[in-house]
Amino acid sequence: MTESKPVLLSGIKPTGDLHIGNYFGAMRQFVELTKEGKYRTFIFVADYHALNTVQNAQEMRQRTRELAMAYLAVGLDPKKVVFFKQSDMPAHTELAWIFDTITTMPYLMRAHVFKDAEAKNKEISVGSFNYPMLMAADILLYDTNIVPVGQDQKQHIEYARDTAEKFNRIFKTDIFKLPEPYVLSEVAIVPGTDGQKMSKSYGNVIPLFASRDELAKCVMSIVTDSSGKRPKNVYEIHTLVRSEDELKKIYEEHHGNYKILKELLIEDLDRYLAPIRAKYESLKDDPNIVEEVLTNGAREARAVSEAKMEQVRRAIGVTI
Ligand code: ADP
Ligand code: TRP
Repeated sequence: MTESKPVLLSGIKPTGDLHIGNYFGAMRQFVELTKEGKYRTFIFVADYHALNTVQNAQEMRQRTRELAMAYLAVGLDPKKVVFFKQSDMPAHTELAWIFDTITTMPYLMRAHVFKDAEAKNKEISVGSFNYPMLMAADILLYDTNIVPVGQDQKQHIEYARDTAEKFNRIFKTDIFKLPEPYVLSEVAIVPGTDGQKMSKSYGNVIPLFASRDELAKCVMSIVTDSSGKRPKNVYEIHTLVRSEDELKKIYEEHHGNYKILKELLIEDLDRYLAPIRAKYESLKDDPNIVEEVLTNGAREARAVSEAKMEQVRRAIGVTI
């Protein structure tokens, strides 16, 4: 029975266009993990978290669709994974409120995200301040055992653990399980076209769904550094799509001929990304597929989260 498997859950914010750094650094590992079949898996689009920054209906809709399609295109299987939208689950915000009432301001003020915003003198919304409580609710509603996240999110899992313990203690119950973080290994820090870490904020990305022409443009703009044996940035990106054994030979053979090496990289990147791009395009052509997947996911997630919410309401005494 799938129900007896440990539970894996993670949320993804619909912000920004995806690039190959996101794919090789995070999405691929993530999808592999869900394919193993070891876990009962819940993955959701964290649109209410994104609302702290994405405050335009058209943009929210588009980013949500694109993110869902991107994950389906890179291999997330909706038959094996409960894939849903956070805003379709009223229990998340309801439980977040309940957690707010047992959480203190000084405790939330210790969150890195809050401290960074404060250090930069940035105005911070109440939603951003309470971000860890909504995330705790996301996680705890599903009896989650493990949460795959990037290193930067580890503190939020600790907040979820603390909050589960505190709730259980105050209301003399054991309804919340303590989740563990599963930090995705930073196997690949993918360099951008300028040699810095590839990031949408640096404008140095190779988009995951780039056409061949766009790929060519990006690759041709990669800054070549001739100080070493081979052009470092070109080579490092190349290792993502071709074995080092083969590459060593190729780079020796074409030593110093950056144009040919870049053309080969375009070729290899294009071959690697073509099936993902084709899947993405075919999903785009089917206007109902995203709705269908998310609606099915919501049905399953709702059954789980509502059952937990009933236990919570009983534990705090709002059911009479
Ligand atoms: P960006 O830096 O473009 O804003 P995000 O912060 O949205 O990217 O990253 C989303 C996920 O993709 C994170 O888990 C992050 O670790 C991974 N990621 C982003 N850029 C890279 C990169 N250049 N190399 C490896 N992983 C990356
Ligand atoms: N905060 C996460 C991020 O920025 C996204 C997220 C929201 C999440 N809720 C979650 C991740 C629950 C894991 C579990 O990447």
